[in-house]
Amino acid sequence: MTPATSLFSPVEADLQILADNLKQLVGNGHPILCAAAEHLFGARGKRIRPAIVLLASRATMLEQDITPRHRRLAEITEMIHTASLVHDDVVDESQMRRGVSTVHSLFGNRIAILAGDFLFAQSSWYLANLDNLEVVKLLSEVIMDLATGEIQQGLNRFDTNISIDTYLEKTYYKTASLIANSSKAAGLLSDVSQETAEHLYSYGRHLGLAFQIVDDILDFTSSTDILGKPAGSDLNSGNLTAPVLFALEEKPYLEVLIDREFAQEGDLEQSMSLIHDSRGIQRSRDLADHHAKLAVEHLVDLPPSESRQALIKMADYVLSRLY
Ligand code: IPE
Ligand code: IPE
Ligand code: MG
Ligand code: MG
Repeated sequence: MTPATSLFSPVEADLQILADNLKQLVGNGHPILCAAAEHLFGARGKRIRPAIVLLASRATMLEQDITPRHRRLAEITEMIHTASLVHDDVVDESQMRRGVSTVHSLFGNRIAILAGDFLFAQSSWYLANLDNLEVVKLLSEVIMDLATGEIQQGLNRFDTNISIDTYLEKTYYKTASLIANSSKAAGLLSDVSQETAEHLYSYGRHLGLAFQIVDDILDFTSSTDILGKPAGSDLNSGNLTAPVLFALEEKPYLEVLIDREFAQEGDLEQSMSLIHDSRGIQRSRDLADHHAKLAVEHLVDLPPSESRQALIKMADYVLSRLY
């Protein structure tokens, strides 16, 4: 589901400039890498992360216009995100992303890995050129976190003993770190106080957690057509997300099925019905709701503005994807 345009309206024009710039920015590498990268920038993602960066920028600049550095930060954020998706699709062996074929299914794994590396490297170069050491530190930590999250997820496959806290930690690395640190970086580029910067970080952290929990629920409840990427694949590949972890508390037999990695016919279907028959999905919704509320609480510090209002509504949008 694409966000209602009204949600992004304070930064609508900014996002248009961003879309044009992103294509130009990746345009100076090897033609094959550019073709691979451009393929994904051409297909429209929801652009939630750059929208948040731009809204946080506007909400902290108020009277003044945002600077070219704020814009560049938003571009870097979307570049890092896209790079992580190119790699994630190789790891997950996913055939579809943003409604089009994935880079690896069109160009092969080798090109996809190189194209992801290329995007990460290019984002680091643009990052360094912001000439703000604190911002460079925040965003380079994100790139480490993304890899940490993917590795944790890979190591925990089919492990029915992982706790919700372990899941949330992995989710922070994989998803929330980018939103948290880029929101904070936007504030730093506006010269906000350290306190405000920390609030922006916490806003992004909780919103990011809610966003990934919702994505994990949608993997059970939505369809490939609506999502533009394969639905129902997390469980199959042993990625045990919130709905499964909660369901395991109620349905001991689910553990048996997961432990044998769905080796027998019908195991996966049976697991699915056990999960749908449990309170797993509802409890995951409540958890997403909880984090979305916490996110909004961190915005009280910002002066009222149209952009702050949009950041608040962003939390509703994240949850509304479920209904
Ligand atoms: C996908 O992110 C990866 C997750 C963290 C769930 P998005 O759902 O924001 O993907 P795009 O950018 O809109 O394609
Ligand atoms: C998000 O994880 C990928 C990254 C943040 C690197 P998922 O594996 O849940 O993302 P989708 O579902 O493929 O978009
Ligand atoms: Mg994936
Ligand atoms: Mg997912």
